[in-house]
Amino acid sequence: MDARESGAKKLAHLNIAELEQVILNQGMVLLRGFDPSSDEQMVAFAKKLGPLLAWDFGYVLDLKINQQPQNHIFSQGKVELHWDGAFAGATPRFNFFQCLQSSAMSGGGETTFVNTCRLLESCSSQQLQQYQDKVIRYFAEKKAHYGGAIEEPLISPHPATKRQRMRFIEPFNEDNMAVNPVETQVQGMSSSQGDAFLRELIAHLYDSDSFYAHQWTQGDYLLVDNHAMLHGRHRFQGEGLTRHLKRVHIL
Ligand SMILES: [Fe+2]
Repeated sequence: MDARESGAKKLAHLNIAELEQVILNQGMVLLRGFDPSSDEQMVAFAKKLGPLLAWDFGYVLDLKINQQPQNHIFSQGKVELHWDGAFAGATPRFNFFQCLQSSAMSGGGETTFVNTCRLLESCSSQQLQQYQDKVIRYFAEKKAHYGGAIEEPLISPHPATKRQRMRFIEPFNEDNMAVNPVETQVQGMSSSQGDAFLRELIAHLYDSDSFYAHQWTQGDYLLVDNHAMLHGRHRFQGEGLTRHLKRVHIL
């Protein structure tokens, strides 16, 4: 949605029921051309879509690249595909981002997305058969604000739309081996069979038409259906990383 076309400059003027429907139908919505928001304004707007998930840092996460990161989301490396809240008690329905400063000059750092509902709807029956009934166990050490062990079916119904969606955390991320690696185990498979299955799945996710890499422009807002989408980040390139995002989790 472009504010320059709709005539609305303020997030507060958007029709929330309509916006929610678009997020659920499309997986994500980019809002461009709107006025910037303070943390308080972001929180106030997000609360119209639902209660917010409170982390130990509060509601608004500052995503700035850090020299000695505790978690690789603050590093320069690739972030594996995942959904937010996997290791938390509650899974947010929506991720709400605001871009305060882009890093388009240094390149890389695009936020990566896979619309897993669309992906599954375009799968061959052979692929679907492979994915059906798989259960994956994930383990990540809690270093920053998430970690633990969970077990999730690869395919499950979206809690709101009931479309089939995929829950997956991408292992084998070379950029994350030292900081916060994710270990996986596919139930009922040997570790070599499981790893081969996962590598094929990862290639499918990145190659599919449902994959999208978002290059941030200052002022962008993104609202993402966290139950339908997976997200990650391409590795940053070059020097002078200036990207600054804010993120709020809506329950
Ligand atoms: Fe995330």
